[in-house]
Amino acid sequence: MGEINFFPDDLEVANQKIILRLDLNVPIKNKIIKDDTRISMCLPFIRRLIEKKAKIIIISHLGRPKGVRVPDLSLMPIYKYFKDKLKTNVFFFRGDFDEKTKEKFSYLKGGELILIENIRYFKEETEDDEDFSKKLGVLGDVYINDAFSCSHRKQASVHNIAKYVEKKFAGPLLKKEITAINLVIKNKKEPVTCIIGGSKISTKINIINNLLEKVNNLTIVGAMANNFFVYKNLKVGKSLVEKDTRKIIETIYKKAEKNNCKILIPQDCVVGVNFEGGGKNKNLNDINDDEIILDIGDKTIKSINEIINQSNTVLWNGPAGYFENDNFANGTLTIAENISKNTSNRSLISILGGGDTLAAVNKSKSKLSFSHLSTAGGAFLEFLEGKDLPGISVLK
Ligand code: 3PG
Ligand code: MG
Repeated sequence: MGEINFFPDDLEVANQKIILRLDLNVPIKNKIIKDDTRISMCLPFIRRLIEKKAKIIIISHLGRPKGVRVPDLSLMPIYKYFKDKLKTNVFFFRGDFDEKTKEKFSYLKGGELILIENIRYFKEETEDDEDFSKKLGVLGDVYINDAFSCSHRKQASVHNIAKYVEKKFAGPLLKKEITAINLVIKNKKEPVTCIIGGSKISTKINIINNLLEKVNNLTIVGAMANNFFVYKNLKVGKSLVEKDTRKIIETIYKKAEKNNCKILIPQDCVVGVNFEGGGKNKNLNDINDDEIILDIGDKTIKSINEIINQSNTVLWNGPAGYFENDNFANGTLTIAENISKNTSNRSLISILGGGDTLAAVNKSKSKLSFSHLSTAGGAFLEFLEGKDLPGISVLK
């Protein structure tokens, strides 16, 4: 496999049409952007391309609309954000892709920008459809993928599109991400602790199984841990649980034993009767039928922090609780603050990844520092596993 083609900053792109795949998948509620980290990180490169007088065509997804024009998943708020932040003409394209699209885009002048509406409004996107990829590809002279966080997806605007544009590159954010993660992989010092949160264990099972061979401690938090509670016959009330995970968990425990990897699951938790209200710290045996587990409890936080204090490398993806409500953000924030402290005081190697993890950490009132903060979740974990990501392979 060859080397990744990184975008050379001195490349002459004046008046060339650049298709820029970004990950603008940010939390939006009632048309208001709740956390702009991912978008704001893209601004310097967009400004650079404007300066270079490129004709910029931006593609991104938002959520998972499954080929339907779900109004709540429109990129309109992000279009307004760009209009506000960028000193150039910004357009919004909400049409379909056909023979006339290219002509419509030909009115774009050097230094101007067009944002395409949520690409997942088209089912062909997630199907990595050849014809659709071609329709997208022919719109540009250059293709740049600067969306590391989507690069594990075999989807049209990340994968097959590359066949239909002559010049293709990885953008600066993607470069920064993989350089930083590679550096950590190379320098990682044992004990290595991996903290995994989020909700679906079935989507992360391969990653977990692979990590068991590479890390000394695996800590399970978030809704994912609920499946482990069920496995241990503990009551979880109305908490989110995935079906049929017994086998998966059994495999995880067996493999962990074989590889000498310690697994830690929460001992206590914070429960609520709904997502909006307050919480109560409870032992796992005491959860009522009408309660939902929404954060890890005090004893668990203490145990996780002890493990962090004894680790030399920490990798973390997925929040520990429903951090969107401040009452359930304590677990995630306390752990993040401890990782940050260890990173500053004794050079703990720390990488945090994932859109939610990022949004959660941003809620901290203190300024936190980590070895690397990745915008990617799934892609970050798959890259750590040593997998060849489809969106990166096509740039080689
Ligand atoms: C993410 O937030 O994880 C990325 O934007 C990728 O989104 P996806 O998991 O829906 O493919
Ligand atoms: Mg994701």
